Amino acid sequence: EKGGYDYFMLKEIAEQPKAVADTLLGRIDVSGDLTLDEVRISASELREVDKVVIVACGTAFHAGLIAKYAIEHWTRIPCEVELASEFRYRDPILDARSLVIAISQSGETMDTLMALRHAREQGSKVLAICNTNGSTIPRESDAVLYTHAGPEVAVASTKAFLTQLVACYLVALYLGQVRGTKWGDEIRAVIRDLAEISGEVERVLETMEPVRALARSLADKNTVLFLGRHVGYPVALEGALKLKELAYMHAEGFAAGELKHGPIALIEDDLPVVVVVPSPRGRSVLHDKIVSNIQEIRARGARTIVIAEEGDEAVVPYADHLIRIPVTPTLLQPLVATVPLQVFACELATARGNEVDQPRNLAKSVTVE
Ligand code: M6R
Repeated sequence: EKGGYDYFMLKEIAEQPKAVADTLLGRIDVSGDLTLDEVRISASELREVDKVVIVACGTAFHAGLIAKYAIEHWTRIPCEVELASEFRYRDPILDARSLVIAISQSGETMDTLMALRHAREQGSKVLAICNTNGSTIPRESDAVLYTHAGPEVAVASTKAFLTQLVACYLVALYLGQVRGTKWGDEIRAVIRDLAEISGEVERVLETMEPVRALARSLADKNTVLFLGRHVGYPVALEGALKLKELAYMHAEGFAAGELKHGPIALIEDDLPVVVVVPSPRGRSVLHDKIVSNIQEIRARGARTIVIAEEGDEAVVPYADHLIRIPVTPTLLQPLVATVPLQVFACELATARGNEVDQPRNLAKSVTVE
């Protein structure tokens, strides 16, 4: 059932191109528009939405953090993202014009379920993004957009995450389409790029051997840090979470701009630091800033592991290890940038003799609060 792989996690990482393609299937029509009929919230209701609130836990929360950039950029609707476990305890401000999006692979996460119940009690509409047909979270929501990742067995979420991202982009683009924002042309272009992205994920998977070798060489380290900016920041958080749960290593993700506000004090000789670099095209300010961050940490001894777009030459002098990812639109970069981090964590777990599919102390779905 592991399809020739040693672990479900390896199989699920390899299935990502298909999972991404399956999640797009039937949702883009021939004219390049989105048709999300299953979202049973009418276009007129969606036009009334004045706030989006995303609730989720763990990896699904990281998908939500990335969704915020897309939703706010393409729709100009303010979007908050909150850990489901924190949400209802702070008396959040919600009403009938708030759209709450609950993201969950299993559809059974108790914290997320309690958060959505709270939102519905306040009169908000809840849209679930879920991978498990007929599970509790979609059953209790007003609408559901299923991710089509297929069953995810390994505790560490991989293909579910990529498909959650795709679903979030679809919702963001759909809201933009329905509301007719000024980004219409960009939305159409991104829909075209999304349709191509599965092939890009495939290309990343074909180049992972050096990442595995690098992971093995770091097996005796205690700490790995992850830095990112913009959508690369949640990718850094996700890379750190994967490493914690699989390799049982101390791993932290930081917004690169926060370095000087504290974390740079952690940098010491030969400390591995993974940096997710935004595209040098478009918002090049971000790119320039992160290149300076890489220089700063390297000058203090960090061993820099740089994830950067093909053709980005500016990072080359400062990268002790360079992992190339395909050129994608800025907002879609997490779909390709996360994959090496999954492979990295999985290989480190193996090298450290850990149980990959069933890490200690963890359950696949957390059905208690
Ligand atoms: O089933 P859910 O998506 O609601 O689960 C949420 C988290 O428990 C889950 O993503 C967890 O963080 C994973 N083990 C991460 O790999």
